[in-house]
Amino acid sequence: MIIHFIHSTTTTNLPPGPRPLPIFGNWLQVGNDLNHRLLAAMSQTYGSIFLLKLGSKNLVVVSNPELANQVLHTQGIEFGSRPRNVVFDIFTGNGQDMVFTIYGEHWRKMRRIMTLPFFTNKVVHQYSEMWENEMDLVVDDLRNNEIVSKEGIVIRRRLQLMLYNIMYRMMFDAKFESQDDPMFIQATKFNSERSRLAQSFEYNYGDFIPLLRPFLNGYLKKCRDLQSRRLAFFNSFYVEKRRKIMAENGEKHKITCAMDHIIDAQTKGEISEQNVLYIVENINVAAIETTLWSMEWAIAELANHPTIQRKIRDEISTVLKGQPVTESNLHELPYLQATVNETLRLHTPIPLLVPHMNLEEAKLGSYTIPKESKVVVNAWWLANNPAWWQNPNEFRPERFLEEEGGTEAVVGGGKVDFRFLPFGVGRRSCPGIILALPILGLVIARLASNFEMEAPPGLDKIDVNEEGGQFSLHIARHSTVVFKPIKP
Ligand code: HEM
Repeated sequence: MIIHFIHSTTTTNLPPGPRPLPIFGNWLQVGNDLNHRLLAAMSQTYGSIFLLKLGSKNLVVVSNPELANQVLHTQGIEFGSRPRNVVFDIFTGNGQDMVFTIYGEHWRKMRRIMTLPFFTNKVVHQYSEMWENEMDLVVDDLRNNEIVSKEGIVIRRRLQLMLYNIMYRMMFDAKFESQDDPMFIQATKFNSERSRLAQSFEYNYGDFIPLLRPFLNGYLKKCRDLQSRRLAFFNSFYVEKRRKIMAENGEKHKITCAMDHIIDAQTKGEISEQNVLYIVENINVAAIETTLWSMEWAIAELANHPTIQRKIRDEISTVLKGQPVTESNLHELPYLQATVNETLRLHTPIPLLVPHMNLEEAKLGSYTIPKESKVVVNAWWLANNPAWWQNPNEFRPERFLEEEGGTEAVVGGGKVDFRFLPFGVGRRSCPGIILALPILGLVIARLASNFEMEAPPGLDKIDVNEEGGQFSLHIARHSTVVFKPIKP
């Protein structure tokens, strides 16, 4: 034991960080709320890589583009796993899903099975008209409600219905009738409770310090109860329905939605029935909330910046000359795309990415990273550090067109600016980027073409204060926005 201790302190070269105490490590100094701003401030003291000991766990924080490149790309395999955590173990059935599983055979299989029905250009082309129809319904609802143009509405709930319909039509060929549809109310309740319990910082103490875990029993029981009711809901109302339709059609069945592909993979013995449910669980949290937060941020910023709305409208009318914005012409609208990017830069929805983990001891920069460390890349700080961005607090899409000096590196076939990684990059990067970017571009284009978006009467600006969780950054108060119709 003594020999081991001497060995490990003399041969390791750990990243800098505050001096840890026995048992608690740095937890008493840093607390539970390890958000992107606190970690950015700590990087000013300890440098662009530092280590926090949180009870029995190591947290390594990376805050510059070169090290982000190493974690996500050049050493993407070494750092390609995900750390475990007592709460996520419950919500992922100990890694039976894709988002939180370790890098290995199971992850590869899940990523392959999910790619065909969700993450290809073919899927985008197949569904983009449906997305546009769902967006037109939002425009109609806003136009047909006079209050919206005078007092404004809390836009989140209507966009939430739109996004659930987009994703549930892709997943199950099913949709919700309205915001009052009992199934919509139930699905959103389950998912928001899941997000609240998983995102909260309040369980960290019991995760970090095994001695304190008994105090977490009540919290973990709540998580288990919710998860079993939630998975049963997805299963009986959605997955089983597709199984029935497939069985009734037999050989003649034509694959009509993502779930059919996934059930097909299960029937061939590639994945288990539980894996099918965890795919549904992952899409419900990874796809819908992130995209919804980004929309809320974009709309709030646009309402606060009428000139940017005008520029988007001008670009659309100059380039498309009266033709509607569709997925196929989005690439002709650079200012619109820059507005999407600027939203994701200033309000990075997953500011620390999803945590990475090294299964074995590894090297990062000149430091040794003990095996099974949680490694986070502070993507928000990379995108908001004044060392790399001019006036980073300003919402200014032009910065993406004026080519402020980036820190680009070649990854795969293209170049990546490692200051701007809202979807991560490399093996564990977000496969949903192929859907999220066009959906965001289309929504912003639809709303800006049809409405002047403004703060409600009596307010100068919409409040864009933020609230964060373990992996989320959303607007603190859901905005009320006035939508004044523009004559067609
Ligand atoms: C604006 C919207 C979105 C943002 C900002 C976002 C961001 C991210 C980030 C930062 C990660 C982790 C990257 C890393 O660990 O290095 C991630 C992972 C993931 N995202 Fe997204 N995402 C969005 C939308 C979507 C959508 C629409 C889907 C699916 C339809 C999706 C599915 C996933 C999945 C499955 C993973 C896990 C990948 C893996 O672990 O291998 N995301 N996303």
